[in-house]
Amino acid sequence: MNPKNDDMHLEHALRLLSKGCVVGMPTETVYGLAADATQDQAVAQIYALKERPSFNPLIIHVDSLEMACQWGYFSPLALQLAAAFWKVDSPYQNPLTLVVKRNNQNLSHLVTAGLDTVAIRMPSHPVALSLIKAFGRPLAAPSANRSNHISPTTADAVYQDLGDRVPLILDGGACAVGLESTIVDVTTDNLILLRLGGATVEMIESVAGCAVQRVEHAACITAPGMLKRHYAPHHPLRLNVTSPLPGDALLGFGAVPGATLNLSESGDLVEAAANLFAMMRFLDQSSCREIAVSPIPNVGIGMAINDRLTRAACTDLESDTKGLE
Ligand code: TXA
Ligand code: MG
Repeated sequence: MNPKNDDMHLEHALRLLSKGCVVGMPTETVYGLAADATQDQAVAQIYALKERPSFNPLIIHVDSLEMACQWGYFSPLALQLAAAFWKVDSPYQNPLTLVVKRNNQNLSHLVTAGLDTVAIRMPSHPVALSLIKAFGRPLAAPSANRSNHISPTTADAVYQDLGDRVPLILDGGACAVGLESTIVDVTTDNLILLRLGGATVEMIESVAGCAVQRVEHAACITAPGMLKRHYAPHHPLRLNVTSPLPGDALLGFGAVPGATLNLSESGDLVEAAANLFAMMRFLDQSSCREIAVSPIPNVGIGMAINDRLTRAACTDLESDTKGLE
């Protein structure tokens, strides 16, 4: 595929977004399905394309803290986190979404699904940043996959999942992080973790100087990233496998002989996160009986990897979120 991120394609993307159409957008976490966050009809297209019900709110993407403050109320704690995680030259720079009170009537109420809060993040991918900057206002963008499918980490994976229904997919290469952003609610003085992701809890606590509280899945706010079964590969998936069975495709981690694919032979969790969705997608398309996954250390970004794998392995049909994401 020709890289579609030159000036001509950016211009095309801007025209489509102004008309209320959706565009596939690379970010450092996963590819997003972007639309103008101020146009109800544009946001409705995201929900329709993803087959996602409209009570599940979307993240808006900004190019700066300045733009963020025009759409949400940032408390001193929220400002502190944004300054650390969103600044390109900060040692903490990592994908963090902040849920704050919304403060702008021009933001589509469909984006926030009627809530008085809004989830905001500044991506670090240069293509996403130039697109938002040139557009001049936030882009609503969930992951560019059909609800309940694995999130795409390449432009090609977006095309495989959504096909020609997306008029333009900007190609920014493979996503460096490979897992969605971490989501934290900062609407009160308590930091509440809504979704584990690319920014680790340790980093957030070290910047905030206070503990991050966790909520049980589906206990409070509509964050499908919190639901038990979220990513649904077609093949059954088993975790912490050290002795694979005949017919298994083995997704290894570390020095695992005979692995079908290896998330990181050197045991690097960051590399494993970046490979996770693409490798799950590949194995899911293979003719194996089940996908067996090696143990992954539950530290740092390994916690987010295990979180996604646990949701993919869940067979509890009562908590099947088909249609929820
Ligand atoms: O890395 C990411 O975050 C990717 C890329 C494309 O930026 N986006 C992404 O968006 O994962 P999505 O729509 O798949 O996940 C958004 C999550 C959902 O779990 C949603 O419920 C939650 O954010 N969310 C959005 N607004 C919220 C709000 N006001 N309160 C609580 N949760 C909210
Ligand atoms: Mg998603």
